[in-house]
Amino acid sequence: MLWQIIIILCILWYLLELWKIRRVVAASRQIKSSFISLPLIGHSYMFIGSNEDRMTAIKKVSYDAMKNASNVSNIRMAFEFYTVVVDAEAIDILSKEFLNKPPMLYRFSRKLLGDGSLMAPLNIWRPRRKLLAPMFGQKNLLNFVKEFSKQSMILAQNLQSVAGGEAFSVWPFFTTYTLDTVCETALGIQLDKQIQKHEEFREAFEEYTVIGSRRMLKPWLYPGAIYRLHPDCKKLKKYGATVNQFITDVVEKKRLSMQEKRQTDSEQTNYNILEMLLQTADTSTKMLIEEMLVLVLAATDTSAVGASFTAVMLSKYPEVQKKVYEEIRTVIGEKNRPIEVSDLAHLKYLEAVIKETLRLYPPVPIVARAVHKDITLPSGVTLVKGSNLILSVWGAHRNPEYWGEDAEEFNPGRFIKGNYTQSAFIPFSCGPRGCLGYKYAMMSLKTMIATLIMHYEILQAPNLYTGPIRVQYNIMMKDVDNFQIKLKLR
Ligand code: HEM
Repeated sequence: MLWQIIIILCILWYLLELWKIRRVVAASRQIKSSFISLPLIGHSYMFIGSNEDRMTAIKKVSYDAMKNASNVSNIRMAFEFYTVVVDAEAIDILSKEFLNKPPMLYRFSRKLLGDGSLMAPLNIWRPRRKLLAPMFGQKNLLNFVKEFSKQSMILAQNLQSVAGGEAFSVWPFFTTYTLDTVCETALGIQLDKQIQKHEEFREAFEEYTVIGSRRMLKPWLYPGAIYRLHPDCKKLKKYGATVNQFITDVVEKKRLSMQEKRQTDSEQTNYNILEMLLQTADTSTKMLIEEMLVLVLAATDTSAVGASFTAVMLSKYPEVQKKVYEEIRTVIGEKNRPIEVSDLAHLKYLEAVIKETLRLYPPVPIVARAVHKDITLPSGVTLVKGSNLILSVWGAHRNPEYWGEDAEEFNPGRFIKGNYTQSAFIPFSCGPRGCLGYKYAMMSLKTMIATLIMHYEILQAPNLYTGPIRVQYNIMMKDVDNFQIKLKLR
């Protein structure tokens, strides 16, 4: 009898929840999907399994959207409805119109990022974006290149330990580079001086992103009461606390040292981002900690993933690598030297190679947004308030409508000719909430890859990457084989 009552109550609850979102449910029916939506869990079953399975599900729904004339598809994760979009024109409109992230996503991210701008609701995001944007102006970026160049030379030196040997993963080398550069340019700390903390921080940071992504894609772990019983919950708290404490220490120390400098009338002219923010009137310690955390999180893994995929692609395409090397020699001459800011504009083919890599292997393969009002897309499909969007970067980047029948091929030449649909190339997302650090990222990647190729020839790891690179999803898209290459000193 008790069981019967429980079952009836569950059914009533389920029907009530569906009734609350009846407009969203009705609108989702006009969008074709090739995948069966199960009662209660919807399409969540597609995301069960390994991170590679999750990425396969993202690919499947993206290709499904490409198949539909409207260039959209849909998926349901329990009571959350997502319209998957691979149409450049629609993405352009939607990324301007809808700036909020789905509430479910920022519910989780708030645990670590607080009100940090990456996931914050609009009223908090807007003034922070306004405050941060000038920090990424041309003058500051040009100053940062000195740091990219210095750290790239250190990276090249570190790689001597593995050059001439077996295949190895570039991932730990590249994340150390990106973390060191962002910590120096954003926070003004030289991590190589505090190796121990650095390792602890790096490990905590990496674990946090892996564990955090697991929950996002498993709706049955959404309810706090269930998640608290899961072993991930404890780990997430532990790693989150380490990351948070690290940044808090840095911000507090910097605030003190800035006060001391002011008292001694120091003549410093070059500032890192934290120092620049500390000089503006309106910065609370809470806001500084949150935004510094956002910068480190947003900049480190994304750039390391972009660089690592580029290294693997260069190993797969020696003729492309040869052209990159020739260009570098033309620009810097025969003798190896640190890359200078004036070199970057001339490394056009290298830039095309990085862009083509980001097209085929975007570090962030999907961008999610919340729909706060009804909107009809150029294709005639109407999205209603209360639903969500997945702007499929993977899908837009491989849509033959924009990239031609060879959309799946690696061909950097398309970025030299420049005759592509700009709005179909969105590795850094687009619209007012797109990536704040895209110019920073491109400069950092160009400096680092140019320095690498100047010193080494990259060779393909034996028996790997004979076909397309196998990819997995844990917030970022990474290589299943962990970015293996071989290096030969030039
Ligand atoms: C290859 C490297 C990178 C890629 C692929 C990338 C990609 C992205 C993407 C897709 C977003 C989400 C935008 C959206 O929701 O529409 C984002 C946001 C952001 N990125 Fe990047 N990013 C990279 C590097 C960086 C770097 C180096 C920095 C800073 C130094 C940075 C800072 C940010 C910030 C602050 C945001 C939040 C923007 C906002 O909500 O206002 N990113 N990035």
